[in-house]
This record gives sequence, C-alpha cells and structure tokens, in this order.
Amino acid sequence: MENISWAVVSLVLCVAIGFVSPADSGAPLIFIFGDSTADVGTNNFLPTSMARADFPHNGIDFPSSEPTGRFSNGLNSADFLSMTFGLKRSPPPFFSLNAAYLSNKTFGGVNFASGGSGLFDITGKKSKNVVPLAEQIQQFSTVKSNLTAIKGGRRVTERSLFFISVGSNDLFGYYHSNSSIPKEEFLSSLLLAYENHLKGLIDLGARKFGIISIAPIGCCPSQRVHNASGGCLEDLNDLAVTFHSRLDALMSKLSSEYKDVKYALGNAFEMTINVIRNPLPFNFTQVEAACCGAGKLNGESFCSPNATLCLNRDNYLFWDLFHPTQAASKLAAVTLFNGGPQFVTPINFAQLAMA
Ligand SMILES: *[C@@H]1O[C@H](CO)[C@@H](O)[C@H](O)[C@H]1NC(C)=O
Ligand SMILES: *[C@@H]1O[C@H](CO)[C@@H](O)[C@H](O)[C@H]1NC(C)=O
Ligand SMILES: *[C@@H]1O[C@H](CO)[C@@H](O)[C@H](O)[C@H]1NC(C)=O
Ligand SMILES: *[C@@H]1O[C@H](CO)[C@@H](O)[C@H](O)[C@H]1NC(C)=O
Ligand SMILES: *[C@@H]1O[C@H](CO)[C@@H](O)[C@H](O)[C@H]1NC(C)=O
Ligand SMILES: *[C@@H]1O[C@H](CO)[C@@H](O)[C@H](O)[C@H]1NC(C)=O
Repeated sequence: MENISWAVVSLVLCVAIGFVSPADSGAPLIFIFGDSTADVGTNNFLPTSMARADFPHNGIDFPSSEPTGRFSNGLNSADFLSMTFGLKRSPPPFFSLNAAYLSNKTFGGVNFASGGSGLFDITGKKSKNVVPLAEQIQQFSTVKSNLTAIKGGRRVTERSLFFISVGSNDLFGYYHSNSSIPKEEFLSSLLLAYENHLKGLIDLGARKFGIISIAPIGCCPSQRVHNASGGCLEDLNDLAVTFHSRLDALMSKLSSEYKDVKYALGNAFEMTINVIRNPLPFNFTQVEAACCGAGKLNGESFCSPNATLCLNRDNYLFWDLFHPTQAASKLAAVTLFNGGPQFVTPINFAQLAMA
C-alpha cells in the first residue's frame, strides 16, 4: 500500500518537474544552418571575411541600435522563427559557445549559419572566409558530442528542430560566372550536395527539418540593377523556381527512405513573389529599392555608415541590396510557422514541432 502511494507521488512529481524545468518542458532545441538569411553573427568571428554586417546602419532597429552581424535593420527570420518556439531570439552563433551556456538550463540551441556560404564548399570563396554548410554540419557534430557529455545522448536530437536556409549564393555564383554547365546539370549536382548534407545530419540524429528554399533572388535590388528596365532577372528567378521543385522531390524521397524523418518545406519564392506583386496588404510601399545602400535602387553597394538610409523601414521589403528588412523577415517567419500549403508543405513549422 505504502509502495503504491509512493509510486503515485513520484509520478506526480516527475510530471510537475517536467512542466517547471525549461530543460524538460518539451520545448524543442533549435539548430540553424545556412547563409546570411539566417546568420546572427557567425562571420564576426572571421576577421578576414568580407561577408560581414557588424557595422552601422545594420542593426539600427536592434535594441540599442547594435550592429550584431545580422544583415538586417533589426532581427532576421532565424530570430522570428526561434521566437515562435519560445526563445528570446535566435540561439547564439557556434563560435560564441562556452561550457556555461552548453550546460545552462536555458540552452535553446545553436546557430551555425554563415553569410556568403552555400551548399558547395567553393561558394563563398570570393568572400575570403565563410563557413560552408559541410563545415557547419561538422560543427554541429562537435556540439552534439559536447551536449552528449553533459546531458546524455538521445536527449540532444530526439526533439530538436533543424532549420536550413541555403542555396541562393550557389545560384548567384552559377549565374554570374556565365558557366557553360547546362542548368539541369548544375541543379542536379547542387541537389546531390543538398542530399548528402541532409544525410549527414540524419546520421547525426536529426529527424525534423524545417527547410526554406530560395526566394525570387532575381528581384533583389542588386540584381535588378543588371536589368535596364529595373525588372527582375528572369533567368535567376527560373533557377529558384526549379530549385524548389527539385528540393520538394528530394525531401519527399528522403522521408520515404527514412520513415522517422519529418519535414516542412517553405516555398520562399511563392511567399516573396506574392508580396512583390501585391505589397500594400502587407504594409509595404517599396519592394524594388533597398532601404540602405547607394546607387541605382540603393542596390549598387552594401549598407555602410555612409550609405543612404530610408526612414520608413517597415514599408520596405529590402533592407540592403540582397536582404529583407526586419518587417519582411517577420512576415516570412509567421508564414512558415502557420502558413497553408501554398507556402509551406506538406505541413507547416508549427505542425513540424508537434509531429
Ligand atoms: C566540445 O567538444 C570539442 C571536441 O571534442 C572540444 O574541443 C571542446 O572543448 C568542447 N567544448 C566544450 C565547451 O565543452
Ligand atoms: C544561464 O542563462 C541565464 C539566461 O541567459 C543567465 O542569466 C545565467 O547566468 C546562465 N547561467 C550560467 C551558469 O551561465
Ligand atoms: C558574364 O556575361 C556578362 C554579359 O555578357 C558580362 O557582363 C560579365 O562580365 C560576364 N561575367 C563573367 C564572370 O565572365
Ligand atoms: C528585365 O525586366 C523586364 C520586366 O521589366 C523583363 O520583361 C525582362 O525579361 C527582364 N530581363 C531579364 C534579362 O531578365
Ligand atoms: C505600417 O507602416 C507604418 C509606417 O508607415 C508603421 O508605422 C506601422 O507600424 C506598420 N504597421 C505594421 C502592422 O507593421
Ligand atoms: C563609403 O566610404 C568608403 C570610403 O570612405 C567608400 O569606399 C564607399 O564607396 C562609400 N560607400 C558609399 C555607399 O558611399
């Protein structure tokens, strides 16, 4: 009789502790991979990197107007996505990790994303020093072994979410090199690289992927300046559309090969082109020029202390010649989290967390 009541009490205690302790609350750990669309300061640790944003006017709308390395006037999509899962903003960059954070109850994950990087190691070489996706996955492997030492194996990956936003820089590299490799062949090798990276993460225990495909990058201010009429570069946009459908097929194949793999694929092309064609309902009045930059459409140089800066930043789609404003990033994250099948398939990011 006594034994039975103790069992009941312990059970109740376990459940109660489960609710109060952040480490056991069921909130997923978040690991973020990719390029400048998700970088929250990785490249600040690479002094020779030319893909940096740790100077004004970047960060002008961040608390204390601090330039953090984000290519944004404030937060980016990695932050807003992390916030929907209960974090204060994106987890910190890998290079900033220390033993105290790793063993802290508030540990929420790690951000490995590096501006200028891509699926291919060679992408980003022009920026002198970036962390390609393959190396980001190596870094995750290190973090996993650190966490396993602290918390024990399965806990690290069983609930974790893996967010990946990558590929734009590979497409830019291909398009602007006037490569003689046919488009289909290039995309096949790019998707093969993606498949190998995903399998690497699956081997390390990753099971839930939130993947963001490539936006209509031909419509970035930096690309519109190559079009005499100021329109989008259609060939680049076509590459982004084909990339998405190939990635959709790849994810569907992987999830049938690995029965316990779940994914949500965000269609960044559809989400963004929808806003460009019909900006007013989203509070945007400028979807062609960058807020911060110089030259035609503010798209001919990066945002810098002496660049031209717009006032009504919430009404701009583009912060700089390549990147969305904080307002646009927030809209993207909300759409990924609870959007319908036009924008995110086969489930959205909220459903991924519950899956
Ligand atoms: C994490 O693991 C790596 C490789 O095993 C080790 O060099 C590093 O010191 C560890 N970091 C922490 C914070 O424990
Ligand atoms: C754990 O994280 C919290 C919130 O970030 C911080 O205030 C606290 O000092 C950290 N504890 C340790 C031991 O680092
Ligand atoms: C690619 O072609 C365009 C137009 O023909 C030219 O302006 C550009 O310099 C070329 N780029 C490279 C890397 O050769
Ligand atoms: C330039 O933009 C126009 C629309 O303004 C479009 O019709 C044309 O195809 C674009 N040119 C290129 C090279 O993409
Ligand atoms: C819409 O833009 C105005 C500035 O023109 C800004 O004050 C307002 O906060 C924006 N509304 C939303 C919902 O973002
Ligand atoms: C800002 O100044 C630097 C040198 O002082 C110059 O190289 C750069 O082109 C300027 N940028 C803009 C956007 O005017």
